[in-house]
Amino acid sequence: MSRIAYVNGRYLPHDGAAVHIEDRGFQFADAVYEVCEIRDGDVVDPTLHLDRLERSLRELRIRMPMARAALLVVMAEVAKRNRIRDGGVYIQISRGRARRDHAFPAPEVRPTVVMTAKAHDRAKAEAQAETGIAVVTVPDNRWERVDIKSVGLLPNCLAKQTAKEAGAKEAWFVDADGFVTEGSSTNAWIVTADGALVTRPAEFGILRGITRTVVLKVAERLGLRVEERPFTVEEAKRAREAFITAATTLVMPVVRIDDTSIGNGHPGETALALRHAYHGSTERVALARNG
Ligand code: PDD
Repeated sequence: MSRIAYVNGRYLPHDGAAVHIEDRGFQFADAVYEVCEIRDGDVVDPTLHLDRLERSLRELRIRMPMARAALLVVMAEVAKRNRIRDGGVYIQISRGRARRDHAFPAPEVRPTVVMTAKAHDRAKAEAQAETGIAVVTVPDNRWERVDIKSVGLLPNCLAKQTAKEAGAKEAWFVDADGFVTEGSSTNAWIVTADGALVTRPAEFGILRGITRTVVLKVAERLGLRVEERPFTVEEAKRAREAFITAATTLVMPVVRIDDTSIGNGHPGETALALRHAYHGSTERVALARNG
């Protein structure tokens, strides 16, 4: 079955789908994005993702291209047309197309809206969670506004490539003081020897992950102790458990950081319990099933 993409009001064959060469997303990374999980044919937590999308747009002074309800309809339609049962739907919104000039176009142009969907192999992801992943640490060399989910992801791509070349699945960014900020496309967590769940506060310096927000709710439901505070690489290496979270990976145990095994070298029970309980605290919106 051929993939379908949504571009500015049209559903197009994925292979030929394109935006203009003077789109500001292409020219300047002047664009934001969101990734929502699709699970069992439902969009997971669309309200939280659309809230963050609106915030990212507001911070960059890009106008909302259509009503939230319409965005949700298109998201569901793209997932449905691609027959996604488990996977993700990607929304990208740029400031639009304009003759190349760093300053914003005046008068304002219509934002570009692109949506795509990707299936993923749930069995493979579960098998990965049973063995856990390795991460490497890299200096955090990103701009300050990583709280905005911008498509300007070059440092993240370089970090992910470093991880890949080291045989790891994720890279953890480390700030100048030795504290872990977050992963290249995930949030970072540890579990201390006395069982506290630790993750960095999301006021600045990291993206406030939706999965992170939901895991905090799940932790409360499970009666776990949570400490929102920074942690160093050294503390993480001594931790009982470590894991990452994102809409794409959900809760994924980390069993090695650089050359150090974490805990007993196997996925921790807290991480697996959170992964297991995760969808009990999510909002689910079924894809329209009219065809
Ligand atoms: N990445 N931190 C960064 C830098 C991210 O790019 C992401 C998500 C997260 C986790 O956010 P959430 O839980 O809302 O997915 C944290 C997406 C999945 C991506 O770029 O593919």
